Amino acid sequence: MKIAEKFRIADKFRKYRLVPVVVVNSVQEAETVLGGLCDGGLAIAEICFRTPCAEEVLRFAVKNFPKMLIGAGTVINGEQCIRAIQAGAKFIVSPGISEEAALICMQKAIPYLPGVVTSTEIIKAISLEIPTVKFFPAENVGGLKGLKAVAAAFPQMTFVPTGGINQDNLAAYLSFDKVVACGGSWMTKGTREEIARKTRLAVTLTESL
Ligand code: 3PG
Repeated sequence: MKIAEKFRIADKFRKYRLVPVVVVNSVQEAETVLGGLCDGGLAIAEICFRTPCAEEVLRFAVKNFPKMLIGAGTVINGEQCIRAIQAGAKFIVSPGISEEAALICMQKAIPYLPGVVTSTEIIKAISLEIPTVKFFPAENVGGLKGLKAVAAAFPQMTFVPTGGINQDNLAAYLSFDKVVACGGSWMTKGTREEIARKTRLAVTLTESL
């Protein structure tokens, strides 16, 4: 069995159906967001390498939220990918395809979810033995209609649409059988209570589908 088959990210994401995108400027902020997600019943988070504290936040999250599936997002090269994995990331997400990150993840048997929009990018992902991709930024590149159009040509590929997804359009995306989960930041902003409330709403919706 190929490594890419054995560690299919789809199997991990299908369990949660949601990938909360977490962009924070401090460990304290991360504690609020991750606490809110857990209070709302969602034990998964993508910590984005978009702020200087990302690596520190990853280490903090892995240590202090051991029941959560913690991954790294906005990883754009091999160097960040190695740092993220060393900090304990259990999956890696990129806004586009980083071949370096793909190869490192393959070697280390870590699921890699690269962002794609076009057929050419999906073909590239297939050539790297990647079974699931992030369709990003979903709402800006045709939304569900755009995703269905491009997905039709790739029966072997599954998707995690991200970008502009919220409580109102979530059900429509998740109802498409090629979608294993939806990513987004809509539930990761506000106070811990607000985050918990938005998360609970999203989780309840996924459970009702
Ligand atoms: C991402 O990087 O995945 C996006 O910033 C998430 O998009 P959203 O903020 O529109 O949910």
